[in-house]
Formats: sequence, structure tokens, C-alpha cells
Amino acid sequence: MGTMIAVEGLRKSLRTGANRLEILKGIDFVVEQGEFVAIMGSSGSGKSTLLGLLAGLDHPTSGNVILNGTAIGRLPEDQLAQLRGRTLGFVFQSYQLIPTLTALENVLLPYELNESNGSRRQGMDRAKALLASVGLAARVDHYPIQLSGGEQQRVALARAFMLRPPIVLADEPTGNLDSANGKHVLDLLLELNRAEGTTLVLVTHDPALAAQASRRIVLRDGCVIADERGGA
Ligand SMILES: Nc1ncnc2c1ncn2[C@@H]1O[C@H](COP(=O)(O)OP(=O)(O)OP(=O)(O)O)[C@@H](O)[C@H]1O
Ligand SMILES: [Mg+2]
Repeated sequence: MGTMIAVEGLRKSLRTGANRLEILKGIDFVVEQGEFVAIMGSSGSGKSTLLGLLAGLDHPTSGNVILNGTAIGRLPEDQLAQLRGRTLGFVFQSYQLIPTLTALENVLLPYELNESNGSRRQGMDRAKALLASVGLAARVDHYPIQLSGGEQQRVALARAFMLRPPIVLADEPTGNLDSANGKHVLDLLLELNRAEGTTLVLVTHDPALAAQASRRIVLRDGCVIADERGGA
């Protein structure tokens, strides 16, 4: 147990021409190990920006993100990459699969980039099992361009789980799925959360997913306007 993510006075602004656009206006919250947090709010409220900052993929204008006890703002890029590799699974809103790799190779990639792992055989077995668990057993050898949007989204989810990260951050993980596949992915997330204690922070517009979360943080115009606990 303990704090997995601490966000302190997080601000992000950008210069657009002569103006400064304030995207996040001072965000504070703490996520404990094993929590399942849904980040909600209308389009443009800052959800993806926040998630990118939590993952250290972007730098805040001010404030800090502390991941599993380490303030990521001052880390050199190589140490940040290492921490990210050990700690985080990330699912982008736009999936970001590697176009020249098959579904199986995409899922296997984090494993192959991380030296401290088991055999290639073990990696292959896990990658295949993960793809099967998102309903893609018959698509392992397909390239991203040969997959539908929802299928690519499920490959991206499988990839995020590959190294059993203590934290999974996902931007609209069911955004492109029909209700049956959305339910399937949600069940998979809940299973990980329960069985492995994975801390989940998911951006979502999906009321069914948000209802299953143990906590909902709502953004509006770059500010947290609600932070409510309880749920399924
Ligand atoms: N690089 C950028 N340059 C200029 N404006 C940006 C940039 N990135 C984000 N924004 C603006 O910041 C605001 C928040 O964007 P963000 O992508 O975080 O929204 P969101 O809540 O994820 O929306 P959605 O639900 O549509 O995905 C938006 O108004 C967006 O136009
Ligand atoms: Mg977004």
C-alpha cells in the first residue's frame, strides 16, 4: 500500500501567438495503490494533457508529479524512461502502434526493450495470452493497418499490460469499442485491478466504465470540479 501518484499544483500553459493558453490551472490529487480512478470532463477540459503529464511524456509549466515516490520533473530523460518502463503502462487516445510490427510484435515490444525479463518464449506466451484476453487471438499476425480502430485499441491495451506495470494510464480505452468489446476490456481492467492490485487511471466519457471506478475526478476548463469516491 501507499501513494502511487501525487500531483501537486500542476499547471500547464502554452503560448499560442501573442496569447497564453492555460490548459491546466493548478491540479492537486493523490492516488493510492490499487485505486481505480476515472478522469472525466468535456472535450477540451484538459484530460489528455493531464494524463501525458502523469506519464512524464510532457513537462508541466509548474508543479510536480510524483510517481511511486519519485518526483519525475527533475529526472534526466534516461532515468525517466527507465522509471516509466518499470512503473507505467500507457494507452494513448490515438493508440500509437508501430505500423511496421504485427499485433503480436507490438505487444511484445516493451518486453524486448526491457532486459531484465525472462525468455523470448515466455514473452511470446504472455503476449499471445494478452491478445487472446482482448479477443484478438485470430489477429496476432496482422499489422495495425489491417486492424479496425477498436482492434488497434485492444492491441494498445494488451501492450500496456505486457510488463505487469503497477500503474496503467489509459486515454479513453473503450472510446472506440462497441458495448460488447467495451465490457470485455472493462472486465479485463477490473480483473487486473483486483488480481494484481494494478492502479488504474483512465480517461473516459463512458458512464458504464466510470460507474465501475472506485473514484471519479471531473475536470472542467483545466480545474478539478469534483472528486468523488465510491462505486461498484
Ligand atoms: N499543443 C497544443 N497547442 C495548443 N493547444 C493545445 C495543445 N494541446 C492541447 N491544447 C488545448 O488544450 C485543451 C485541452 O486539451 P486536451 O487534449 O487535454 O483535452 P481533452 O480533455 O483530452 O479533450 P478530448 O475529450 O476531446 O480528448 C484543448 O482546448 C486543446 O485545444
Ligand atoms: Mg483527450
